[in-house]
Amino acid sequence: MIKSREVRLKSRPIGPVALENFELATVNVPSPQDGEALIKNLWMSIDAGQRTLMGSGDADIADLPPKRFELNEPMECQAIGQVIESHDSNLPVGTFVSSNFGWREYFVFKGKQDGFTLTKLEVPVSPLQAHLHIMSVYGATAYYFITQCAKVQAGETVWISTAAGTTGSMACQIAQISGCKVIGTTGSDRKVEWLMEELGLDAAFNYHAPDLRDAIKAACPEGIDVYLDFVGGHQLETAIDLMNPQGRIIKVGETSSYDGGKTDGPGNLFQIVLKRLDLLGRSVFDILAQPARMENVYARLGKWHADGTIKVQETVYEGIENAAQAQIDLLGGKNIGKMLVKVGEPENIR
Ligand SMILES: NC(=O)c1ccc[n+]([C@@H]2O[C@H](COP(=O)([O-])OP(=O)(O)OC[C@H]3O[C@@H](n4cnc5c(N)ncnc54)[C@H](OP(=O)(O)O)[C@@H]3O)[C@@H](O)[C@H]2O)c1
Repeated sequence: MIKSREVRLKSRPIGPVALENFELATVNVPSPQDGEALIKNLWMSIDAGQRTLMGSGDADIADLPPKRFELNEPMECQAIGQVIESHDSNLPVGTFVSSNFGWREYFVFKGKQDGFTLTKLEVPVSPLQAHLHIMSVYGATAYYFITQCAKVQAGETVWISTAAGTTGSMACQIAQISGCKVIGTTGSDRKVEWLMEELGLDAAFNYHAPDLRDAIKAACPEGIDVYLDFVGGHQLETAIDLMNPQGRIIKVGETSSYDGGKTDGPGNLFQIVLKRLDLLGRSVFDILAQPARMENVYARLGKWHADGTIKVQETVYEGIENAAQAQIDLLGGKNIGKMLVKVGEPENIR
């Protein structure tokens, strides 16, 4: 029997998520039985989409999969763990695994369990937590939206919102690799500086600035060919104004409404008709269900990770007791790149 701390959803947030919506509980995890394995979580992923599963937001998706988190139960998210005791011949002790059993320190994996997934990391990359950013659904999202949804071409001007976030920062780099002029928007001057200095974008802007539209227009007199929209609201409206005829707007998310916010706009949708714009909404789940396609995506991302072509900045909080604060701070824009919680150290198992 081992003690494990887990984070539960105590109440559905009304407005921005707060510490009072979470509860840190300690439970006894039983020893694994035949066909079971005990997993110690090492890293967990904090992401914006989790907020929609907590409920009570504008982007509440109660009627659509994935299912909302249950109250008073540990929440779920992607996590990287290590098998530390096993009675499952498929999961030898020491194996690193990826699962959606995050928000807890330890768990027993009982083979097939409804709604839970666990995958062996056959060839773990370094650092391990890269399996929660570039070598994960987020890297795949950036790749899929830039290359297969936007189908960007060399020489095009691409505007990426939430450019300093996990998915956005990788999308910026893939658009750069594709030979595009890339501009990004983000929520603070510190992140604007990071986008210019570390990612080398052609231009970057703080979207809180009152003159965003004019600033982008001045930086891109040729207009915008592709806008990757993670946020909706005012930025989407500004993009519609600045798009070139036949431009493509690719909708990835709607973060401005996730945390109890109300999106205002866009109020200029008729321009989509006048300019013959394409507005496309997709989900990465569309390709996750196609293993052969995913293999190619991860081969490409793995190469870019290994040779340093794509860099992912990490914002790391230590300990499961700080996971709720990490979620709050992600939605408050305090992360640069991937928000992670380091839950534990790997065991030195021979
Ligand atoms: N369609 C798909 O298949 C798919 C797959 C993965 C992710 N997504 C979507 O992609 C988006 C980014 O997700 P992520 O996990 O990579 O998160 P992330 O970008 O690492 O972090 C979230 C960021 O959102 C920004 N933000 C927070 N509140 C905001 C607001 N009110 N208005 C505008 N921006 C706000 C903050 O950056 P700033 O400081 O720059 O504002 C924050 O850092 C989410 O909308 C998510 O749902 C979609």
